[in-house]
Order: sequence, then structure tokens, then C-alpha cells
Amino acid sequence: MRSKPIILKLGGSVITVKDKPLTPNMPAIRRLAREIAESQASPLIIVHGGGSYGHPIAAEYKIKEGFKSKSQMAGFSKTHNAMISLNMLVVEALLDEGLPSISLAPSSFIIARRGRIQNLYVDVVEHSVGLGFIPVLYGDAVLDYDMGFTILSGDQIASRLAIDLAAEKIIVGVDVDGLYTADPKVDRGANLITYVTVRDLEGIMGGVGGSKYIDVTGGMRGKIFELIEPIMNGIEVLILNASKPGNVYRALKGEEVIGTRIVRG
Ligand code: IPE
Repeated sequence: MRSKPIILKLGGSVITVKDKPLTPNMPAIRRLAREIAESQASPLIIVHGGGSYGHPIAAEYKIKEGFKSKSQMAGFSKTHNAMISLNMLVVEALLDEGLPSISLAPSSFIIARRGRIQNLYVDVVEHSVGLGFIPVLYGDAVLDYDMGFTILSGDQIASRLAIDLAAEKIIVGVDVDGLYTADPKVDRGANLITYVTVRDLEGIMGGVGGSKYIDVTGGMRGKIFELIEPIMNGIEVLILNASKPGNVYRALKGEEVIGTRIVRG
């Protein structure tokens, strides 16, 4: 590989319509493809989430809880198929912009144990990036040595790839501006945290230390949990609002952008 790759995670809430099952947000997908193309970022690996494609089916069949009955098997397959459909839309949008993107199905080269990635055959990703491709992966239903199967989030996959490939940084595109001092949806006094260290985060994640008050509720908590390891490996993480035009472009260019930068500290 010529230089360290950037890992871009696109949240499912950005590329799908949240409350409508199996509904893509095509304007957002096309705009993001354009921003990625204009940035000319390389080497680049994209991982996207499930949003209204992955989560409703996975929840209906309780795929994350593992294999309990044969009736779940169709659900495992349907979850994976839904993710393939969404992935195809993302890859097609990137191809339309002239980008050499290729779909890589996580479930075909990753196996988990107790919901955590156990084996990931990174050569597939490394070699495709080395050739100049932009691999496009996604949160997926995968096999699990102990549980039969489970769900791996795009965040977990992005973090593991970042570590295995010594990424330059992980850009996490979500539908909020970043981490706040309080929940911005209920507290008008909530302030965006633009820079935070792992030590600051440890306090709120149940560890010791931590000087700032940070609101990490719901999905953001799981995200931070997944991202700690790459950050501890010296990989910078930037959480930003990918629903706002221009942010992903600026982040890929290395320009200033509104969001939360997390470093080892
Ligand atoms: C979920 O991936 C994948 C499936 C449910 C199959 P993520 O957990 O990364 O998805 P988002 O970004 O939160 O929607």
C-alpha cells in the first residue's frame, strides 16, 4: 500500500430513511459519492451501516442474539440480502462518479466469536486497496463460532480494519454533529465537543479519570466503545455530521470541519 488508508464509516441513518424499512436515501448516497470523488482521497476504505435495511430484519429474527431456532435462518439470509441491496446502491453511486469501488461482503471473510470479530482475512482488503480499488464493506450478519451467527456493526468492522491496516484515521459520518456535553435533542444548552482525549472519555465510559462532562447515550455509546481500540493504537477518529453537505469532503481533504476529534491524548 502506498500510504496509510483512511477508513470512512457512513452511518445507516445517513444513507437510509430511518423510519421506512428498506428505503434508501438516494440523494444522500449520490451526494456522498460526489464528495468522495471530488476529495480524491486515496487509499480509502468505506464501511457503511444498515439503517432501515439491516436493523429491522435483524431485530425481527433476533440475529444478534445468535442461533436459537431454525426459524431464524431465513432471517439471517434476509438480513444479509438487505445489506447486499443497500451496498449495491452505494457501490453503483460511487461507480457513477468514476470511482473504482468494489463490494466486499464481510460475512464471506470474517467470522466472529461471542459477537466480536475473531478472524478477518485482511489480505482481501489490503490487496484490493493496494491495487487502487475502494473496497466498500458494511455491517453484516456473520457466522459466530460460539453463537452460530450474530450481527457485526460497521463500526466494529471499521475499527478492526483500521488497526489491521494501520489506518491514518477513521472518519465516522453520522446524523448529528458529534459528541455533546448534554443531549442536544432535549437540552438547548448542549455544547458540541470538538476535541476529546480517551482519558476524558474513560470517565463517562465507566472507567477512572475523565474531566469533561460528555453525553454519550444510545448509539453513540456503542460507537465510542468500538472506537477506543484504534484510538489507543494512535489512530485519530473524527465523528461528524455526514447529512450536512461538504463535511465528508472536507474531512477527506484533511480540512477543518465541524465535529468531534478523538485522540489518544
Ligand atoms: C448494522 O450495522 C448492520 C446490520 C444490522 C446488518 P451498523 O450498526 O454499523 O449500522 P448503523 O450505521 O448503526 O445503521
